[in-house]
Amino acid sequence: MTNVKTGLLDMSDISAVEIRSLIKLASFFSEVAKRPIPKVPVLTGKQVVTAFFEPSTRTRLSFEVAARKLSADVVTFTTATSSLTKGESIKDTALTLRELGGNLLIVRHNCAGVPHQIASWVDIPVINAGDGRHQHPSQALLDCYTISQNFTLTENDFTGLEVVIVGDITNSRVARSCVEAFTTLGARVTLVAGPTLLPAAPVFSANDRVSITEDLDGALATADVVYLLRVQLERMDKNAFPTVREYRTRFGVDRRRSALMKKSAVIMHPGPINRGVEIASDVAEQQNVLIGDQVKNGIAMRMAIIYNLLTSKYEL
Ligand code: CP
Repeated sequence: MTNVKTGLLDMSDISAVEIRSLIKLASFFSEVAKRPIPKVPVLTGKQVVTAFFEPSTRTRLSFEVAARKLSADVVTFTTATSSLTKGESIKDTALTLRELGGNLLIVRHNCAGVPHQIASWVDIPVINAGDGRHQHPSQALLDCYTISQNFTLTENDFTGLEVVIVGDITNSRVARSCVEAFTTLGARVTLVAGPTLLPAAPVFSANDRVSITEDLDGALATADVVYLLRVQLERMDKNAFPTVREYRTRFGVDRRRSALMKKSAVIMHPGPINRGVEIASDVAEQQNVLIGDQVKNGIAMRMAIIYNLLTSKYEL
């Protein structure tokens, strides 16, 4: 994968070959999960530390489950009960976690760049588990794995797949990582959003596999994957849209919109979902909605990422 010393910080660090290798490894680890004893002893004696300075359910827990399935010890750093509340700096916190025996640091922070900064201070790999509006690479990788399970592809080449990413693009680190990952594997991506939900500078325009539209109904008709983003009220400018009702009308997927999709198309969402906003509650329960698979695949893909960073046995 990326640099074994600095870890997994940004999707742009990873090539198509490396993404495909991680998908293969995740697929192997999914099989491990089905065994009577769903663990492997490969990381016995290693210590994985999760340091989440921002709330999380899926990412933190699935990294911790993944590390335990690889037989690593897991240390959970919790900000509310830590010496951060007494004024200790992030740098001293990270150095302390290293000195306590950490071999891998998994970091989430609401400011872009914090995992990169921590990686420059410690001599162990750091995984970016989401930094502000910037990047969420492990989410994009588990989404690539989930897509690969649902379409007939040759060597996980996404050429010919049409992915539509809908909603709050400007605040979404998931969108930034997914656009890079999906297009790196060959997919075409259409971003569906109004001007107030797009970055001020069109950061995606340099990529000729990415287009932008406000017409969700039109985009749904040709999509293979409809990827809905959470409306990120905690990061949002108050004026991004007037009301939740307006957002739902323009960018929410309800039964009418779901019926516009191809029979073979799937709906994805990184979670947590706002039921009744970006996705209607009844649509969220449909067979073609892969939200549960994404969570499950998060464990296997994160096993692959951790394994890759902490062993030299598997060469990508
Ligand atoms: N998808 C995702 O990052 O979810 P959490 O915030 O629950 O980790």
